[in-house]
This record gives sequence, structure tokens and C-alpha cells, in this order.
Amino acid sequence: MDDKKTIFSGVQSSGFLTLGNYIGALKNWTKLQNDYNCLFCVVDMHSITVRQNPSELKRRTLEILKLYMASGIDAEKNILFIQSHVPAHAELAWVLGCNTYMGELSRMTQFKDKSARNDENINAGLFTYPVLMAADILLYNADLVPVGSDQKQHLELARDIAERFNGVYGNLFIVPEPYIGEVGAKIMSLQEPTKKMSKSDINPNGYIALLDDADTIVKKIKRAVTDSENEVAYREGKDGINNLLGIYSAVTDKTMGEAQTEFEGKGYGHFKAAVAEAVVECMRPMWQRYKELSDNNDYVEKIYTEGALKAAYLADGTLKKVYEKIGFVI
Ligand code: TRP
Repeated sequence: MDDKKTIFSGVQSSGFLTLGNYIGALKNWTKLQNDYNCLFCVVDMHSITVRQNPSELKRRTLEILKLYMASGIDAEKNILFIQSHVPAHAELAWVLGCNTYMGELSRMTQFKDKSARNDENINAGLFTYPVLMAADILLYNADLVPVGSDQKQHLELARDIAERFNGVYGNLFIVPEPYIGEVGAKIMSLQEPTKKMSKSDINPNGYIALLDDADTIVKKIKRAVTDSENEVAYREGKDGINNLLGIYSAVTDKTMGEAQTEFEGKGYGHFKAAVAEAVVECMRPMWQRYKELSDNNDYVEKIYTEGALKAAYLADGTLKKVYEKIGFVI
């Protein structure tokens, strides 16, 4: 082993990815791959806490894996894999579940939100979701976990579970830290710029899907909600413009200040056209690689098969130690 730290992160395969996921996750991950040992997982087991259409689930899982690669994550340098391919995730989740309290899980805001929104299917998996997430992380002794603010509470719980386990059975798990990267702009809905851009938005004009085509992107940005002024400036109260400036700066790698200066004295029409063009230019190489991967299923299969083997090797080592500690006959 080298002395690089380990990073683990995952995305659920319950929907398509948006520009928000690209800017908030994938783009940052590509910057981590040289300095850390990274495992990037498509967490299909988490996805089934909400009822999924089987063929859609399968398609989405592969779509996300290909988008990882298309956005520049090197499949040779990092471990890219599908969660359900490594049985140790479910196995460790059972053990950790026996070391997690109902009270802790009941306090998770995501569980409260999801069960309120989905009251006809409040299943046990939705409740124990954070335990499986803890297993994902602890199996690989991840030092750092890049997560959005909505996952901080889950990560906090993973830390508590790790510390509790270490306390009872002797040090085994690394207690993971959240990875706070450069503070990038949080990408908001194009239609309601005070809310996060979300793939579950019922209005598709609110989000840009990573696989939207260029015309759709131009149209969606043209329709983005702004304000009744006509000044491209980053200022409180100008949520729509602030969001478009944030998008522009993220996809062009310019600072907010540079972006703002560039559009001084320019109208909203001109600004929106420039943002749309910059987004399309940023996406274009990714679309090209995505297409190449989609034409080469054998290669994609090789990547996730080898990824699962490498992940399982590491995960099985941890699971064996856990089983030893708790007194299972191994
Ligand atoms: N719960 C995370 C989300 O919805 C996805 C996830 C599952 C994850 N396991 C993880 C993220 C482990 C980081 C590490 O975004």
C-alpha cells in the first residue's frame, strides 16, 4: 500500500444525473484521482429503498457508471464498481445494524423527509439506509468522503457507528471525515433558483440533465428565471442571475469575479446565450466519450467486473476482521 489517503463516494442509480451532480460531484472527483486512492461506486442497493422499475434501474446503473468514466474518472487508476456486485456491503450492513440504535436512525432528516413524501412505502430499507452507507465507507477504511450537505448527517452517523464499534471491539475502523473540496457554487433550479437543482423536479425546465442535447440546454437556459433588472451582477436577491453566474464560472473554471466582469454592461439575453454555450462546450467531450463507451459494452463490462474484484478483495479483508472481532467462527 502507498501512503495516499482513501476516498469513497457513491451516487444512487435512481435517476439521471444533472449538471448539479456534475459540478458538485463528478468534476471534483476527477481532481482527486491523482492524490488519493479513490473508490467510486454506483449504489444500486440504496436505490431500491424506493420502488424502481427493474429495466430502468439496470439502464440507469450502467448510465451512471459510464458517466463517471465519460467525465474523466480514470477507470484504471480508481476503483469503479457497482455496489450489489460486492456482497460484503450487505454483510457488514447487518453487523453495523446490530450496533446502531433505532433512536439514531429515527433522527435522520432524510428518513423523515422521504417517509413523509412517500407514505405508502415506508419500508425498513429506507430506515436502515444510513447503515448500508456506513458499511460502504467503513469496508474500505475510507479516510475521506466527499458528500453534499444533505449527506452530512449520514456521514456523522457512520462516524458514530465506527467509534462505537472500535470502542467495544478494539480499533478496527478508520473514522471517516467529510471531504470539503473547494467551495464550488451550489447549483440551483433554473426555474426556482432558491431550491437545489434536482432530477426529481416535476418541471424539466428546472434542471439540465447531463445527457440533454445541446438544443435542449440552450432552450432551458433561455427560459431560466432571472429578475426584472438588467444587470449581470452577483448580489443578494438576484438568485437566478447568481445561479447562472455560478454555473458559468464552474464550467469555464473562471472565478465568479472574472465571470461578472465579463458580462458587465451586457443584457440578460447575451448573458444566457454565453452561459448556454459554455455549458454545451463543457459537456461536448463528455458526450463524445459517453457515446464511445455506449458503443463498447464489452469494455464497460470489463471495467465494472474488474472494479468489483478489486473492491471485493479489500472489502472481504475488512469483513473478515470484523467477523473475527465479534466472535463469528471463520
Ligand atoms: N446516500 C448518498 C446520496 O444519496 C449515496 C451514497 C451511498 C454514498 N453510499 C455512500 C455517498 C457512501 C458517499 C459514501 O447521495
